[in-house]
Amino acid sequence: MKLDDNYFEIDDVNILSEDVFKNSGHLKHFSDPLEDEKGNVNQFNMMLEVKVGVTGDERMYLRPETAQSPYISFKREFMALREKLPMGLAIIGKAFRNEINPRQGFFRLREFTQAELQIFFKEDEFDVNFDEVKDYKLRVMDKDVKCSSLKIPKFYIYHLVKIQQFYLDVLKISKEKFRFRELDKDERAFYNKIHYDIELNMDSLGGFKEVGGLHYRTDYDTKNHKVLINYNGKNIYPHVLELSFGVDRNIWALMDIFYRKEKERELFLFNRNIAPVEVAVFPLVNKDKIPEKAEEVYELIKKDFNVFYDSKGSIGKMYRRMDEIGCIAMITVDHDSLKDNDVTLRDRDSMKQIRVKVSDLKEKLSKFLDGVELNKLGKLIN
Ligand code: GAP
Repeated sequence: MKLDDNYFEIDDVNILSEDVFKNSGHLKHFSDPLEDEKGNVNQFNMMLEVKVGVTGDERMYLRPETAQSPYISFKREFMALREKLPMGLAIIGKAFRNEINPRQGFFRLREFTQAELQIFFKEDEFDVNFDEVKDYKLRVMDKDVKCSSLKIPKFYIYHLVKIQQFYLDVLKISKEKFRFRELDKDERAFYNKIHYDIELNMDSLGGFKEVGGLHYRTDYDTKNHKVLINYNGKNIYPHVLELSFGVDRNIWALMDIFYRKEKERELFLFNRNIAPVEVAVFPLVNKDKIPEKAEEVYELIKKDFNVFYDSKGSIGKMYRRMDEIGCIAMITVDHDSLKDNDVTLRDRDSMKQIRVKVSDLKEKLSKFLDGVELNKLGKLIN
């Protein structure tokens, strides 16, 4: 997917100097409450320290969020990229936290992956197309709230909409499983002025859990790191809107939400945007020149689709294995394929099948993967 104009993906190291986290406020504020045996509540800092240098006297830290690197490199990027605002810097990378209680699968890890976008803008100059979203209804806790009725900045609402659209329209998560939760002053991260968490409802974790957030960090970070820039003749500290997602948590949530157990099989109902494999090709049996024909079909489509070739085990086993990883379409080559140059196309969800001419295969597969029902593409044979 393409990033918007003036938005760029960058990368950086995982270990940063002590100064970065002194300035960012993490050494002081990045803590969790911890209760001791006598019932006293103490603050426990979650930063992971690394001792470096010949004597090991120098202290550095594993980054607890990817966000700090865009802040400290912002000025250079801004100047190199023609001094335009708003400007976005994204990082997908590792973050580390000394979690007191790592548990719940991918949910609370000490080493995890974040996908974060920092959008830098001049305060009061972040234009968005609010008209496009004013009638859109955001899911806030258990209510549908019309954007135009919210009393928070337009740029913030606009990004809530973009996030909700991503979960509902791209990942295809149902509205009932998605919600935003506004955090109040006591719950917000120390750098945030407005903070809504993104929450998904997961059976495996017993309800709605946080998978990401939209954070209006104001000029808190740019001031702390002294990122003063000259923009259109004025010296300013840019403000920051952060879109933050935990990759591991979102993957866990997708597995939880799209898992289905049936009498005879287990499967993931992933759509094309998230399925690890779109199409599988199998020979019905491993003899009579059928594998050769199946390989020919595989070669024909492998550049246009994400395809896996399998010939190990019975056809039933091959179907089950692909159902289990959420593969959407399965193609079987059999004796008739050799005579008629056609194959069977099977739908993961319904297990229904149609016959498709090899010459029409790319076109029909493409429609099917985009969501056209199987019976609109041919006569059902089971
Ligand atoms: N830069 C902002 C930031 O780091 P956060 O709410 O502390 O905000 C963002 O973390 C996301 O990172 C969370 O919503 C969550 O998805 C993920 N995350 C945080 N701690 C995690 C952990 N211990 N294990 C797995 N994912 C975690």
